[in-house]
Amino acid sequence: MNFLKVPKHVGIIMDGNGRWAIKNNRERNYGHKKGVEVAENVIEWSKEFGVDYLTLYTFSQENWKRPKEEIEFLFELIIRYFEENLNRIIENGVKISFLGKIDDLPKSLKDTCKEIQNISKNNKEFNLILALNYGGKQEIVDAVNKIIKEGKEEITIEDMERNLYLPHVPNPDLIIRTGGEVRLSNFLLWESAYSELYFTKTLWPDFSYEEYLNALKDYSKRERRFGAIKQ
Ligand code: IPE
Ligand code: IPE
Ligand code: MG
Repeated sequence: MNFLKVPKHVGIIMDGNGRWAIKNNRERNYGHKKGVEVAENVIEWSKEFGVDYLTLYTFSQENWKRPKEEIEFLFELIIRYFEENLNRIIENGVKISFLGKIDDLPKSLKDTCKEIQNISKNNKEFNLILALNYGGKQEIVDAVNKIIKEGKEEITIEDMERNLYLPHVPNPDLIIRTGGEVRLSNFLLWESAYSELYFTKTLWPDFSYEEYLNALKDYSKRERRFGAIKQ
């Protein structure tokens, strides 16, 4: 793929599972099940393209507003996915990190996340980050509170950056959102300051290799100036 400028870090807001299911006369949860299969493919395609970091928006802090049954189903799906795929993921050298308030999740999911993080921490081939119980505003507030505890009275941008949840992860170069909504929904608010944004109407369970390639082609054409002028 040497005609492509490949982003080092891609973030994806995987939206549209529920609508996809309804469109196909199924229950919303069936859409989530399909969504996991697509996420699995996207991890593989990201590696193929040469992306180093992939952050998947898996569950937002606001998603607690959903019915209990849907939330439980989503959490079960995540646990089951790792039960079935963890060995393969680890053998492939994938380091898995979680972004968000993992400690506030139900114990079974929390334990799974911590175990996975621990087992995969020395892997270096690829970085998969799952934003789980994540909120961008919360991350910013948590960073400020950590700095206050250090006794600082004035905060710098550097203070903020070293107190984010995953300070060593580079900012996302490209954020893709499926499902047709044109918003960030509290995803990576600080980190997205200079991200390129790509929105598609495709519902997440229909997201394909071609669509991903289109997003990368579009990204390749963008001129990232970061406030400077073209050289
Ligand atoms: C995204 O799909 C998955 C999660 C938020 C967990 P949705 O469940 O939001 O699907 P729509 O937007 O209702 O179609
Ligand atoms: C964003 O999708 C969250 C995830 C994909 C995990 P939502 O469906 O929750 O976003 P809104 O409610 O449309 O903004
Ligand atoms: Mg949605």
